Amino acid sequence: MDAGKPEYVAGELEAYAHWFAVPEPSANGRFLALTFFAECGEAARIARDTVSVFLSDIVTGEVVYDARLAVSELVGNVVNHVVPDRSRSRDGRSRRIDVTFKLYPKWFFVGVKDEDSTPPLLPMGDALSPELVGEFTDALLPDSGRGLMITQRIASAVWWTPEEGGGKTVWCRFDLVGDKRRQ
Ligand SMILES: Nc1ncnc2c1ncn2[C@@H]1O[C@H](COP(=O)(O)OP(=O)(O)O)[C@@H](O)[C@H]1O
Ligand SMILES: [Mg+2]
Repeated sequence: MDAGKPEYVAGELEAYAHWFAVPEPSANGRFLALTFFAECGEAARIARDTVSVFLSDIVTGEVVYDARLAVSELVGNVVNHVVPDRSRSRDGRSRRIDVTFKLYPKWFFVGVKDEDSTPPLLPMGDALSPELVGEFTDALLPDSGRGLMITQRIASAVWWTPEEGGGKTVWCRFDLVGDKRRQ
């Protein structure tokens, strides 16, 4: 990992500045915000298919499959884990999901916002030491906690931000240029 190098830091800062902004078509950017409910029965499929449509004509190949998988995991987590904050919950009320896509020539950002202020449990480092990886791997892996680990592996970065007034957004970024893992 080149994390200590000045070029790496400069690259991360440049990506951060673009994540913060809204991409403009005049700068070859593309933006989409999609709102739906976790209870709609097809939340993950809608999000996956929207990734393909949103990226079509511009981004092709492996990164599209990885982005589909990542958004599916993040939306699946809202469906499976989100308990809306007390201020937002009412009996029988559907849980709202806001998905944001921001595309720049160099990055694709995905944000999945929910109504629960509880942070996601993002894995820190490797879950298994290398000497344990082998024929027993399946038995040693926990049944839950794989989705965000997979997302961390396929995306260039995964993080979350609290929302004003409650809830949070889980973000991930795909680097479209200079990603050594895809060359
Ligand atoms: N959007 C979310 N809101 C609240 N908690 C979350 C959210 N996403 C993930 N989590 C928490 O992080 C944990 C790890 O998520 P993940 O790696 O996807 O595993 P899994 O979904 O299989 O439990 C979850 O078990 C849950 O406790
Ligand atoms: Mg999950």
